Amino acid sequence: MIIISHSTADTEAVGKALSERLLAAGKRHAFLSLRGEMGVGKTALVRGFAAPLGCRGVKSPTYTVVNEYKGDPLPVFHFDLYRVADEEELYGIGFDDYLAREGYCVCEWSENGGDMLPKNRITVTISRLPSGENERQICIEGVDDEDLGI
Ligand SMILES: Nc1ncnc2c1ncn2[C@@H]1O[C@H](COP(=O)(O)OP(=O)(O)O)[C@@H](O)[C@H]1O
Ligand SMILES: [Mg+2]
Repeated sequence: MIIISHSTADTEAVGKALSERLLAAGKRHAFLSLRGEMGVGKTALVRGFAAPLGCRGVKSPTYTVVNEYKGDPLPVFHFDLYRVADEEELYGIGFDDYLAREGYCVCEWSENGGDMLPKNRITVTISRLPSGENERQICIEGVDDEDLGI
C-alpha cells in the first residue's frame, strides 16, 4: 500500500499504526526493513512504531548499529546498518541472535544487510516528493492485511 505523508507526525502515525496492528494480531516477532535516503524520515517512523510499546527517546543508532528498547509487552531492536560494510560485521553484533529473540526488529539501511535479512519481513520505502519539503511517499509491502486504518 502507498500512503502520502505531509508531516513528521504523519510519518510517525504510520509507524504507530504498523506496530499496533502487529500487536493486535498477537505477533511476537516482526522484522521491518526501512529504505530511503538520508533525512527522509526512517527514524521518525521508528519513533512512531516504538511508541505503542512504551519506548521513548528513539534516536538513530548510527554509531552503535543497534539500540535496544525494553518495551512492553515486547522489546524493540532498532538497527541502522548505514556503516555496516559486510555480513561478517553483522554476524559480529549478533544480528542472528536478535532475530531469534521475541520482539520487533526495525532496520534502517537494511540494503546493507544482504542475505542476513529474514525472508519474512515488512518493507517500508520512504521517498521525497517534489510537491513540497515535508511531503513523502511511504510504500509498505509485506503486511498480510493491508488495511492499517490510516
Ligand atoms: N513527512 C515527513 N516525514 C518524516 N520526516 C519529515 C517529514 N517532513 C519533514 N521531516 C523531517 O525530516 C527529518 C527526518 O529525519 P530522520 O527521521 O532522522 O530521517 P532518516 O532516519 O531517514 O535519516 C526530520 O527532521 C523530520 O522532522
Ligand atoms: Mg535514521
